[in-house]
Amino acid sequence: MPHYGDYQNLIYGAGLQGVVPRVPVDFATLEARATAAMPPQVLTYVQGGCGDEHTQRRNADAFHHWGMVPRMMVDARQRDLSIELFGCKLPSPLFMAPIGVTGICTQDGHGDLAAARASAMTGVPLCASTLSNDSLEDVKKACGDTPAFFQLYTPKDRDTAASLIGRAEAAGYAALVVTLDTWVTGWRPRDLNVANFPQLRGHVLSNYFVDPAFRKLLKQPPNENPAAAIATWGATFGKVLTWDDMVWLKAATKMPIVLKGICHPDDARRAVDAGADAIYCSNHGGRQANGGIAAIDMLPDVVAAAGSTPVLFDSGIRSGTDMVKALALGARAVGVGRPYSYGLALDGDAGCAHVLKCMLAEADLLMAVNGYPTVATVREAGAIRV
Ligand code: FNR
Repeated sequence: MPHYGDYQNLIYGAGLQGVVPRVPVDFATLEARATAAMPPQVLTYVQGGCGDEHTQRRNADAFHHWGMVPRMMVDARQRDLSIELFGCKLPSPLFMAPIGVTGICTQDGHGDLAAARASAMTGVPLCASTLSNDSLEDVKKACGDTPAFFQLYTPKDRDTAASLIGRAEAAGYAALVVTLDTWVTGWRPRDLNVANFPQLRGHVLSNYFVDPAFRKLLKQPPNENPAAAIATWGATFGKVLTWDDMVWLKAATKMPIVLKGICHPDDARRAVDAGADAIYCSNHGGRQANGGIAAIDMLPDVVAAAGSTPVLFDSGIRSGTDMVKALALGARAVGVGRPYSYGLALDGDAGCAHVLKCMLAEADLLMAVNGYPTVATVREAGAIRV
């Protein structure tokens, strides 16, 4: 049976022919290479966070104060990383978190399709952002047989919101991920210093510009008057959601609803009571509020409060080891964010797929060495705060 860890054999084998990986296998080198290669304004937007970026740094650093104890005399030659989520059997718990500028991470401006192809190549689901350069329908098609999730930034205009949801359902997305923490943009000094906000320059708005309900808000089509279309987008972006909106959301779709941005156990309980099908514990990678607590440190309480409702997690995942720690702390599925953007920037779909394969290989080999043959055994083993 092939294992994700076999990827290292391919790398070492290629090395015998003098071939080394085109894209680094570790995050530090990957980020350094992407920093050198990416256009400054795209890099700033991807790499930057809120305030002095304390929360963003803590998200990643906090993984170092969680540790796992290896177990011996366990036959972990066969590993099974598969999970069940939203009725789908997934080959691993890894997924790509929604990143709204994926489209401009590749030079051809079709990074969303490249990420989708990487998803098709690896079996790692893509959570496609509302903000994209290609339509949600085209992105879904490019995911091939791998299930995908659609992330919704809920427009203030109900008809546009309903239309986006309906389109996502018709396109075959397996879940609707509703982001709660971004009705307004957090204070991002790196972007402010260069006065750059990609959407205001017309980037990543395709899902709106092709949308029939959104187009009804316009006097002229977006290609004839892009400035007016962008202004209309700005005016309708970012509905403030409250618990009462769950009734409408639940009625608007048959897709499972995932609430993204839940970090407090009381909010997790409230979400379950309101009918959420999954909780997504995330602080948006420290881009929205510089609150100071790492997302991974908030995960255990959220998991306890969610009970049997699955909890997805992201924020600070930089390696396969981080991924396994998040599983040990109770996440059902784990989202990788910035690292896959860097893979896309360095080598398109292949670079993105490489980043995902490296994470899965490291996770798989950690499970092999630590005597955790399945995700259930990872969870049983747990992680200790050191
Ligand atoms: C994001 N994130 C995000 N989240 C979301 O729900 N919709 C979106 O469109 C975006 N866009 C976006 C753009 C960029 C450039 C980044 C880096 C992040 C947040 C994302 O889904 C995830 O929560 C974070 O990326 C996790 O943090 P790390 O691991 O990337 O640091």
